[in-house]
Amino acid sequence: MERLQKVIASSGYTSRRKAEELIVNNHVKVNGEVVSNLGIKVDDNDIIEIDGEVLKTDPLKEYYLLNKPREVICSVSDDKGRKTVIDLIKTNTRIYPVGRLDYDTTGLIILTNDGELANILMHPKHKIQKTYIAKIDGILNEEDFKHIRKGIKIDERILKVDHMKVKEIDKQKNTSLVEVTIHEGRNHIVRKLFATLGYDVLKLSRIAYGSLTLGNLKSGEYRLLSHDEVKSLYGHK
Ligand code: URA
Repeated sequence: MERLQKVIASSGYTSRRKAEELIVNNHVKVNGEVVSNLGIKVDDNDIIEIDGEVLKTDPLKEYYLLNKPREVICSVSDDKGRKTVIDLIKTNTRIYPVGRLDYDTTGLIILTNDGELANILMHPKHKIQKTYIAKIDGILNEEDFKHIRKGIKIDERILKVDHMKVKEIDKQKNTSLVEVTIHEGRNHIVRKLFATLGYDVLKLSRIAYGSLTLGNLKSGEYRLLSHDEVKSLYGHK
């Protein structure tokens, strides 16, 4: 619920001060009744009229970048009662995650109520690059590295990575830290990529999405996207 004058101003009809004047001077109706009280609150289901014309209220768009922790599900609700990414963000707006990270994957996820942008970002033709850091069980050998760089068949379709780099090898623990950039949105794609060559992914984190990076957001923290960041995401269209 939002104050009537705020909803009128957010719609772009007029400023908040002018909206208040319209209300106190009996120009505004809510659900057919004249209101002159500045304290009244409305929601998306209320019909607002100004001088007999229905106000078009497009809900304000919200854009968040969250550093998703492990054991949180990328969904708006969960029938098993697990924590969702929505539970981590303080808003009354009905936002949803753009795409998914696995329950055990951490890192960068965008949440918004802007369906148009979500569709652009999720459409495969826009080929948005996403960068992951994977800790894998085993030492990634030269042959497998080349195999991945050349293209690797996963579920009957070739995956071409855009970029790959071995960041660290731990011979004692027998693990490798690999950074990989892909522009595909297939589910569990990074885990499947390594599984195809016999490596288990022990940890997985997304550190970049298009031009967005996690910056210094800690696990579970989030921030609003700036106007320029939203514009640049729309630029993928
Ligand atoms: N690839 C995966 O395997 N898991 C994710 O969560 C994201 C990409």
